[in-house]
Amino acid sequence: MSQQPDGEAAVGFFEAESHKLCPIDACLILSPRLNQNLSELRKVEWCGRLANFAEIEMFADERDERVMITLRESLGAPGSEALAHDFLARLPGVVSVAISGGRGLLVFGGKALPYRVGEFNYRVSPTSFFQASRFLLEELVEAATGGETGGLAIDLFAGVGLLTLPLARRFEEVVAVEAHAPAAADLAANAAACGLRNVRAIAETAYDFLRRFARSEPDLVVVDPPRAGVGLRTLKFMAAMRPRRIHYVSCHPPTLARDLAFLVSHGFALNSIELFDFFPQTFHIECVARLRLTQHANP
Ligand SMILES: C[S@@+](CC[C@H](N)C(=O)[O-])C[C@H]1O[C@@H](n2cnc3c(N)ncnc32)[C@H](O)[C@@H]1O
Repeated sequence: MSQQPDGEAAVGFFEAESHKLCPIDACLILSPRLNQNLSELRKVEWCGRLANFAEIEMFADERDERVMITLRESLGAPGSEALAHDFLARLPGVVSVAISGGRGLLVFGGKALPYRVGEFNYRVSPTSFFQASRFLLEELVEAATGGETGGLAIDLFAGVGLLTLPLARRFEEVVAVEAHAPAAADLAANAAACGLRNVRAIAETAYDFLRRFARSEPDLVVVDPPRAGVGLRTLKFMAAMRPRRIHYVSCHPPTLARDLAFLVSHGFALNSIELFDFFPQTFHIECVARLRLTQHANP
């Protein structure tokens, strides 16, 4: 965002490999609700009041009705609480405004955004991760969790439990590991809200969890890491645990390829890869790779 001579804000994307703004009127693949809010925020009256914020994040629910806004302060922005109240009163669909910065996290309106996928409701707090495309989510969840049942499933990089809750319907026990404590708290609350007593939520990195987890041969390990991928040092512990199946959800094919090469050379065979075009007309692609332990596994 930058200010134009008429006082209105220009909103857009950075040009490739630069911080030069390429202004747009609306983004064709953004939700209508968020486009509506963006054009409001462009107006002169908001522009000056947003100058002290380094970042604005907007998140709409699955029906594209309710919106949560998170503002990141750069300089302890004066008047930020009044701004939050004005957003709640006047921006379309905005039900929650969070301000993060030097004073920690202040939340106005709803403490979290409710989001429904399939039969489950998820509470998503302001700093917790949630998937950014609402159209193929049920299909992604089915690809990542479907077709398997058994005793123990482990969900690594679990977020607020998007994959954990469906797994808990299919497995006797699910251990869900999420490094960001507020997201792990959302996960525990989401499991409790649907009466799933077989879920254990652990607020820890996948690496720290795996290196002290003593049980072996779980029926399924699901991983859904950020763009950096799982990484070889964590994969070593994962492979040594000898899960019968691994489902790897990835938003970044280069790190997926690196991690799959490791797993394939450590006793796992690749059964399938499915691609989900979450962000049409961009190069981004979401993948679900399904692997199985071979008899000759030698991690
Ligand atoms: C791509 S998101 C996937 C979340 C969830 N599976 C979903 O689909 O909504 C990755 C998650 O991994 C968490 N994370 C990042 N680094 C981690 C680590 N080293 N160990 C465990 N979780 C981590 C992030 O906080 C985020 O919630």
